[in-house]
Amino acid sequence: MTPLNLAVLASGGGTNLQAVLDAIASGRLRARVRVVISNKPDAGALDRARRHDIPALHLARDQFPTADAFADHLLAVLSDYQIDLIILAGYLKKLHPRVVQAYRHRVLNIHPALLPSFGGKGMYGIHVHEAVIAAGVKVSGVTVHLSDEEYDHGPIVAQRPVPVLDDDTPESLAGRVLEVEHQLYPEIIQLFAEGRVRVDGRRAYIKDEGSGVRSQGSA
Ligand code: GRF
Repeated sequence: MTPLNLAVLASGGGTNLQAVLDAIASGRLRARVRVVISNKPDAGALDRARRHDIPALHLARDQFPTADAFADHLLAVLSDYQIDLIILAGYLKKLHPRVVQAYRHRVLNIHPALLPSFGGKGMYGIHVHEAVIAAGVKVSGVTVHLSDEEYDHGPIVAQRPVPVLDDDTPESLAGRVLEVEHQLYPEIIQLFAEGRVRVDGRRAYIKDEGSGVRSQGSA
């Protein structure tokens, strides 16, 4: 089985990128990160990529005359690197519909809460955990889902709960959620590498290693 070719898109520090790279290095994930792309020139994710000799590209809408031109360039880069799966890892920009269409069911995102709660526009970073604590819920968690044209909306592939503790601050909760992100994301990408994810409408199913199919609850 040839390894899955990944493009990782990130706007920030890239700890999820690092978790993916570590999983590849340890043999838990059969994939290659072919290129890392960020809309921020100083994103930590680009530094991490360079340290691993992975092409690190700063690509942003304002470098192009139109949104369509940006999308065409991004599609050309993804095609050059023969990308199988786009991994959004703290990427704060919406992908152009053309990119979503070209990679339908092949764009994964990770969200630091249990969707469909606490998602959508403006729900990123510490804002998510602030909202979770303000709502008084007892359980938060991590969602890995396929991306579609709307923020935090496509079919959910896996969710894993994280308890909200009485004395949690947004920061303490964010830290525990992030640890779970680092475990879950490589595991789910490996399921794609094994060809075990099937999508039907809004539902994603994970095939057992045998022949059966099960829905992925708390993985
Ligand atoms: C993570 O919390 C992820 O869920 C969200 O953005 C954050 C990215 O963190 N989408 P990092 O850049 O991977 O450290």
